[in-house]
Amino acid sequence: MRIIIVNNKEEMGKKAASLVSSQIILKPDSVLGLATGGTPLDMYKELIRLYNEKEIDFKLVKTFNLDEYFGIGKENDQSYYYYMVNNLFKFIDIPEKNINIPDGSAKDIVEECVRYEKSIKQAGGIDIQVLGIGTNGHIGFNEPDVNFEAQTHLVKLEESTIQANSIYFKTIEEVPTTAVSMGIKTIMNSRKIVLLANGISKAEAIYGLVNGKINPNLPASILQLHPDVTLILDKDAASKL
Ligand code: F6R
Repeated sequence: MRIIIVNNKEEMGKKAASLVSSQIILKPDSVLGLATGGTPLDMYKELIRLYNEKEIDFKLVKTFNLDEYFGIGKENDQSYYYYMVNNLFKFIDIPEKNINIPDGSAKDIVEECVRYEKSIKQAGGIDIQVLGIGTNGHIGFNEPDVNFEAQTHLVKLEESTIQANSIYFKTIEEVPTTAVSMGIKTIMNSRKIVLLANGISKAEAIYGLVNGKINPNLPASILQLHPDVTLILDKDAASKL
């Protein structure tokens, strides 16, 4: 596991964008695994800048997002689809058909999870997966549990996750309590993983990820078993290491 410590969130975004853009330069038809939330926003800004500077293009790139809220459609401004369009996709030249996000409004959600797994396999698997981390150690929306869930599945969000996500909603009651998420095996099958974390609230989870026993109560600890993981942390997130 490589650990890169940076001064602030902006630097974290730039470093992460360098890794993703190098991947695209080396393999223009790369399959990217993407995350939402506050953490990767600076990375998306920098990727847009690199695209505008003609350093990279996304014509052949395919993307798969980690997760989506259950029960809301892609036109809903709280959906992760909406987030991705407005923070990245509408600024770059990725063809719409190459964008993949679980459909949280699918009638048969179990079938949707199976379909999503299949599309990742058909695309040849994920070359580089970008992750954030929950204060409770979740990756994607794989919440602490007694077991690891292997494949894309429906999850019940923990109270702490609902609380953390409520900053993006008017009231906490509006935050969806369930979501569709890639599973631990889906994430671990990615060829490379880059996990970003900033802020003191992530320090405990980062400590557990790096130094803790591998256990499903801290889902990110499984990353200790992956052969190619890079953590990009600001000083606060790295402060307990
Ligand atoms: C988002 C995701 C989550 C977030 C995590 C951190 O697609 O899968 O695991 O990465 O909850 O969220 P922020 O970045 O808002 O602190």
